[in-house]
Amino acid sequence: MPNASETSFAAPVEADRQVFSPEEIFAAGTRNHHISNTAYPIAHSQTFKPYRLERALHRETVERAFADTPDICLYSHIPFCETRCFFCEYTVVGKSELERTRDYMTALNRETEMYAELLGPRTLHGWDIGGGTPSYPPAEFIAEHIGVVKQNFAVSPDFAISIKTTPRIASLEPDKIQAYRQMGIERISMGVQVTQPDLLKALGRDSNGLEHHYRATEHIRAAGFRKFNLDLMYGFADQSADSWRATLEHAIRLDPDYITLYRMRYKLTRISHQADRVTLDMAREHAKIAKEMLFAAGYAANPGKNTYSRINGDTGTSAYLTRRVIEGQPYLGLGLGAQTYSPLTIAYNSGAAGKNLSPYLRDIDKGILPIQDLYDLPAAHMMAKMIAVSFYFGEINLAAFRQRFGVTLEDAYAPAVEFTLAQGLMHYTASTNGSEIALDDHRCLSLTEEGARNFNGTIALFFAPSIQGYLIEQNQSGANAIL
Ligand SMILES: C[S@@+](CC[C@H](N)C(=O)[O-])C[C@H]1O[C@@H](n2cnc3c(N)ncnc32)[C@H](O)[C@@H]1O
Ligand code: SF4
Repeated sequence: MPNASETSFAAPVEADRQVFSPEEIFAAGTRNHHISNTAYPIAHSQTFKPYRLERALHRETVERAFADTPDICLYSHIPFCETRCFFCEYTVVGKSELERTRDYMTALNRETEMYAELLGPRTLHGWDIGGGTPSYPPAEFIAEHIGVVKQNFAVSPDFAISIKTTPRIASLEPDKIQAYRQMGIERISMGVQVTQPDLLKALGRDSNGLEHHYRATEHIRAAGFRKFNLDLMYGFADQSADSWRATLEHAIRLDPDYITLYRMRYKLTRISHQADRVTLDMAREHAKIAKEMLFAAGYAANPGKNTYSRINGDTGTSAYLTRRVIEGQPYLGLGLGAQTYSPLTIAYNSGAAGKNLSPYLRDIDKGILPIQDLYDLPAAHMMAKMIAVSFYFGEINLAAFRQRFGVTLEDAYAPAVEFTLAQGLMHYTASTNGSEIALDDHRCLSLTEEGARNFNGTIALFFAPSIQGYLIEQNQSGANAIL
């Protein structure tokens, strides 16, 4: 159980005072490779339950938790999509609510103001407008939301906004893409996912097929975007190595600045039953193919990092994600089901469970913070969350960890660090990721190639004991374990 010098964290319950051997944790993370990943926590409704606060305590807890945090990131969730892809793990509303974009955006603006009133002046370092498909509603709604955010928060000199789109929207609605750039949005990310036609169909994604990709790319470049990312997905049951190669070739031909790889996470998706057909070896082979092809095409990433960038010194991720990954910067999540990470708490907004707008809109209407679950957590979970997010880049920044928790990584996680070094899973590096961020130094404990191959076992070494215990108890891949 990690030590922290801070005393303001919640006291750990029994489940978070257990001690497991690194060997046992590593084996459990590897065995449960479908769920042991950066999406920390696992099974929060169960594992975080002892730390859940009643609604009457939400306001004062949020205020206290953010009290000493002048710098934050922001995430706005737009839960609308033209169609629902079968693989999607995100909070997206059904067809019957697609007409309610106006009501929703009004509520989102109101939520922004509620937080600004509660927290007082804050400086934003990065902002992701995500979803869902944030390019689904009219562009004016996004412009209005940007206006509300900028009226209510200060922004840092390196502040930047990133937005997501689908190929179909970028190809059919060039004016929207142009408008985003004019609003000052700097980075745009488009989901290609896969290109194999029968797989696209089987995933309910065929309306976003190849016919849109080239035109979408032209529109994004014509609008002036210089930070253009494509999302690709691997680890599907019916995705052969050749089909994955073809997807990568196609993505490289589109010539984006960055390519982000997502290994399919099956938990609570419509195709969760397919998880058992996907072995760790298949996922490893896909990751290896991607690395070889992307490196050959001039894209780079250190071991374990899933965003490949062809621009030297540019991490390729949004300012929002870069700050979260390197510094563990707290973030405020606005909108349906959005997650918020303060220095002391993790919260999920209303609508996370049912994926419909009503609870969220009702809360905003009543003038209460639209929070479904607020967890006041011990240091072990707050550290684990920071480290799990760090694994997006395959490395933990040592100075950032120490600044955040007042203890060195080696002191907080002595057995885990020793194990990763002894097994050749991690090593010390001078990272170049985020060198623009002011930190005491940029040394990291980073995944080796072997550590990246054993990502799921290695990351679990840093989880809090209750989550490690949960993984140890799981006997199968865990793909269908509860959220
Ligand atoms: C918010 S989503 C989608 C953005 C946009 N709506 C689109 O579909 O292009 C961001 C990315 O998450 C990835 N993703 C979605 N479902 C996933 C899952 N179950 N496991 C892993 N990655 C997933 C996809 O690559 C997707 O592009
Ligand atoms: S992958 Fe994108 S378009 Fe598909 S349902 Fe998820 S958020 Fe919507």
